[in-house]
Amino acid sequence: MIPNSVLNKINHLARLLGFRTEQDSELYSVSTECLTAVANEIQWLIDDVKLDGSKLSVSGWAINNFDKRAKDAEFLINGRLFEQVSYPLASPDLQSIYFNIPRAKKARFKCQTTVNKDDFRTGFLRLEFALQVAKGQARRKAWYYPDPELELSLPDESRIKRVIGVPNRTSYIVGGSTIFSRFEAYLKDKLQREYSDFQDVLDWGCGSARVSRYFHLFPQVNLVGVDIDKDNIDWCRKNLKHGSFFAIELSPPMEFSDNSFDLIISVSVLTHLNEIGQHLWLQELKRISRPNAILMLTIMGKSIMGLLQTEASTIESVESLGFKVLGHNPDLDDSIGKNDHYLNVMHSHDYIRKEWGRYFTVVDIVPALAANQDTVVLINNK
Ligand SMILES: C[S@@+](CC[C@H](N)C(=O)[O-])C[C@H]1O[C@@H](n2cnc3c(N)ncnc32)[C@H](O)[C@@H]1O
Repeated sequence: MIPNSVLNKINHLARLLGFRTEQDSELYSVSTECLTAVANEIQWLIDDVKLDGSKLSVSGWAINNFDKRAKDAEFLINGRLFEQVSYPLASPDLQSIYFNIPRAKKARFKCQTTVNKDDFRTGFLRLEFALQVAKGQARRKAWYYPDPELELSLPDESRIKRVIGVPNRTSYIVGGSTIFSRFEAYLKDKLQREYSDFQDVLDWGCGSARVSRYFHLFPQVNLVGVDIDKDNIDWCRKNLKHGSFFAIELSPPMEFSDNSFDLIISVSVLTHLNEIGQHLWLQELKRISRPNAILMLTIMGKSIMGLLQTEASTIESVESLGFKVLGHNPDLDDSIGKNDHYLNVMHSHDYIRKEWGRYFTVVDIVPALAANQDTVVLINNK
């Protein structure tokens, strides 16, 4: 099969030469839209973070698709400049994928700075890629790194792979602390709520509590984590003392009474269920939510489709059908056995507003808030 990046280039050339049908060029534009969403919504990714004593080194790639000069962007730690920055460095690998984004050609960075204990006063370092023309947006795209002195036990690599698809500890730590901190910032900025305002929080499909492990910083919150993956739940019970963790069945109901929770988070769970399962679980989440409870549930958005180089025809059918099953996901085969439950699925935003809006008010769908996935923010007031 021809890789999507090559296909895109052929399409690009063909279109320049006028060899395309109207329908082809529609597909082509959907796919470049997703590549552009990576540059504009995700904007930067961290490959590695090292803290050696007080020396912090961070590397990855960052695309400045907005300022006149790529180097007008600033790398910040807790709002101050990094001491040493090498940017923009050549990135031929990115150029071949994001062929339609000229700045993808030179997008790698390496930064270093000195940090002290006080930098971790919130529990996390906040890392930002701030553009001159869009400074206010840097916070939403910030990545976070937790205080190693407060970090709880980490699962082994096979358990990490089961929840994020790769056995990479840095990705697990940066991804989990980032989603936790971006959700916190969203609740504060948009809904004027603090984590400490919530009494009972559910992490539905918590896996090894990559995200909700950081609720240990809010001991007043009663955290509950549930998952169909019994092995990960056993691991949470053994290693995390700040919450209660329960293994649940593949289908509802759960053993919680009605109106049990005032905040429900769920990261990358409804990206794996078929449409019938999705509806059954949305009804169940509604049953256990208190009136006016907030739910933050993630889906695959345009930016992650771009990141995964999803084929243009697939993206087109997600948009036209609203809900699309891509196929079986083997990541849980070893823990729950090979079955039809765990799939990869994609949703369009229009579908979410219509179908999920039957149960809850859809307040917002925030692109790439949950690291690379979009976050659907719901209120139980229907
Ligand atoms: C991609 S992992 C994400 C795990 C965790 N939320 C995180 O972000 O690290 C998806 C998780 O959903 C769980 N899951 C799948 N179907 C579920 C269901 N019906 N109820 C609860 N959890 C489910 C899986 O076992 C897996 O742990």
